[in-house]
Amino acid sequence: MEMPLVQAILDYVDEGTARFHVPGHKGMDLYSRLGFKLDWTYDLTEVRGTDNLQAPTGAIKRAQELAARAFGSDVCFFLVNGTTSGIHIMILYAARPGDKVLLARSCHKSVWDALVLSGAVPVYIEPEYDEDRGLYTQVSLDSVKRAVKNNPDIVAMVITSPNYYGMVGQLEEICSYLRDRGILSLVDEAHGGHFIFNRKLPPSAADAGADIWVQSAHKTLPSLTQASYLHARSDRVDTNVLASLHSMMMTTSPSYLLMASLDLARAYMEDRGQAELDRLIELVAASRQRLNRLGIDTMTSYARPELVAMDPTRLVLDLSSLSISGFEAEGLLRDRGIQVEMSDLTRLVCVSSLADKIEDFDRLVAACDSLLRQGSNKDRPIFGQNPRLGSRLKKGARLDSGALIGPAAGIPDQVLSPRQAFFSKKEYVPLARAQGRVCAGLVGSYPPGIPSFCPGDLIDKAGLEYLSLVKDRGGQLFGLRDEDLVAVVKD
Ligand SMILES: Cc1ncc(COP(=O)(O)O)c(C=O)c1O
Repeated sequence: MEMPLVQAILDYVDEGTARFHVPGHKGMDLYSRLGFKLDWTYDLTEVRGTDNLQAPTGAIKRAQELAARAFGSDVCFFLVNGTTSGIHIMILYAARPGDKVLLARSCHKSVWDALVLSGAVPVYIEPEYDEDRGLYTQVSLDSVKRAVKNNPDIVAMVITSPNYYGMVGQLEEICSYLRDRGILSLVDEAHGGHFIFNRKLPPSAADAGADIWVQSAHKTLPSLTQASYLHARSDRVDTNVLASLHSMMMTTSPSYLLMASLDLARAYMEDRGQAELDRLIELVAASRQRLNRLGIDTMTSYARPELVAMDPTRLVLDLSSLSISGFEAEGLLRDRGIQVEMSDLTRLVCVSSLADKIEDFDRLVAACDSLLRQGSNKDRPIFGQNPRLGSRLKKGARLDSGALIGPAAGIPDQVLSPRQAFFSKKEYVPLARAQGRVCAGLVGSYPPGIPSFCPGDLIDKAGLEYLSLVKDRGGQLFGLRDEDLVAVVKD
């Protein structure tokens, strides 16, 4: 009998790959220590005693209260559709149609979906850019101040902290600056659910004084995929309105397994999070040293003025001094039994969690060693013959041939709001013929799901060139129909 998805899952598990990707439980049964073993019999519904996520009064209410206490919020809502749904909820809470929301272009795609839902209008801010590494870091406090000065009617700001690379910016200062001006700080802490459990980790959104924040418990904590927490402060947020939005955006049949995994993850982290994170921090630091000795740059001690801290558990391998793209390296590592979380043009990002074992890191180091010995089997140096990229990664940088090699400089012009563009009459055109048209969807490279064109953007040449560069190097694009057709507003 054909069961293609089941087969794909079984095949992957059979491979015995070392998982440097989410979910954070890494397929390990951590909860037997808490007396719980995942079982079909626990897949329940709302019956007497199991409470109701839509209007909790019993077990779910108590579990959410305990999560709020553990994560430093006043109220917590369990999410069964990931941080994506929490981002929808917090933006719907903060902004009415036409309201301005400040955000970086490097936000997750769910932010734009939320703008389409709410009718709010984005004010874009560029994150700082490290030209040596060709890497967007975080937005600086100064650029937030400039944007707010130019747009004093901004009602909220979405801040991604940490980003995929584990970078935390001036979050506390930014939240405090926004608070003083009556602007809500909405923090996408998808990758930072573990921060509050160990003081060696960067400041959490709770520490920084965010108003509303969301965490993907399934990414860095041991929860099932899709399980996330939405948190808020009750002195700045009307939690009744937030509760009604939460009820609107959640299914009326939430999985009790997912919700139980949120309760378990909180309990587990409270019980042993600090000690296990200590162990993980040491393990990752030791692995960094071993990789450095192989000649791989792990961005140890990476520092920039706009950054306050880096997550020591997030292992980033910068391959820009090697003649291999991140995408190629990801494939070659998979051939060697390692699956990383994501790759970009020049880097690999490995998600580590307290479910990791020392043997997994041994395998990663051995696989990198073997890869370096063999080199790129495609014999396709990505940046000509120049081994070091240096200033060639400037925004908008080009090879002598004229080919774009850095990300497109600047932000495309905005012609319509995301909602106007999304609900306009659309047609689909090949990417190569889309220049000058107004984008009606989100188009970008995945992961990490950062769009190059958002609904309402005028599609420009530089952005198109960047997408084709990413595709050329083996990256995946999202937002296209039949791999090449982009939705544009009909003229
Ligand atoms: C920065 C960031 N925000 C939000 C999300 C969405 O989170 P979820 O997958 O829990 O819906 C992701 C997922 O990759 C992400 O990387």
